[in-house]
Amino acid sequence: MQIDEEFKLLQKGVSKVVDLCAAPGSWSQYLSRKLRAAESESDVKIVAVDLQAMAPIDGVIQLQGDITKESTATEIVSHFSGDKADIVVCDGAPDVTGLHDMDEYIQAQLVLAALNITTHVLRHGGKFVCFRGKDITLLYSQLKIFFKEVVVSKPRSSRNSSVEAFVVCLEYSPPEGYIPNMSNPLLDHHYDLDFNQLEGVNRVVVPFIACGDLSAYDSDKTYGLQ
Ligand SMILES: C[S@@+](CC[C@H](N)C(=O)[O-])C[C@H]1O[C@@H](n2cnc3c(N)ncnc32)[C@H](O)[C@@H]1O
Repeated sequence: MQIDEEFKLLQKGVSKVVDLCAAPGSWSQYLSRKLRAAESESDVKIVAVDLQAMAPIDGVIQLQGDITKESTATEIVSHFSGDKADIVVCDGAPDVTGLHDMDEYIQAQLVLAALNITTHVLRHGGKFVCFRGKDITLLYSQLKIFFKEVVVSKPRSSRNSSVEAFVVCLEYSPPEGYIPNMSNPLLDHHYDLDFNQLEGVNRVVVPFIACGDLSAYDSDKTYGLQ
């Protein structure tokens, strides 16, 4: 909600949305309430995907599936009658093992999987919002290849003590000739060769924007029970 307030993601005309890694469903609930209040109900299509089953949410089509699978992308698009999504959001988090390096690597892989599936289902000009973990410099470079603008947002509802933040990517515009595919993990690069030799504007600095106004709930504060 706070990211939407800051970036006006669900503005007029947005009616097709994909919520990746959606269970138990709070993001889907917000999407459904906001979009069905603004657009004609028959135009609104919200597709939520998760490995786990979710309780039904009004106006949300739920798919139990894995976002690393191409079949999931095909199933999502089949619900948009040939169109693509205006926006994809992803709050994916793997089960943690406690081995931090490994957990961070798997988290990064999941974000990459989210980007990969997004390249299949998002329309040109569309938006992508995704949970980001640690050590994501490489990911920023990759996102910048596909979106005109990439910023990081830390909502007030996210604890300051947590590394949690979200990348907000605006205006999907893949490189000319790019053919989406899921079989090619984007992290499989030779980091030094592919990225450390970039110079000038190619080394992108991503702005970090806090959002949520002063009246918003602050996750580092204690509130009395009502
Ligand atoms: C933090 S929860 C999402 C919370 C959700 N945004 C909400 O508002 O309720 C992270 C979710 O990522 C899902 N997940 C992890 N790996 C996944 C994958 N490969 N495909 C689909 N969902 C996945 C988990 O099952 C879990 O439900």
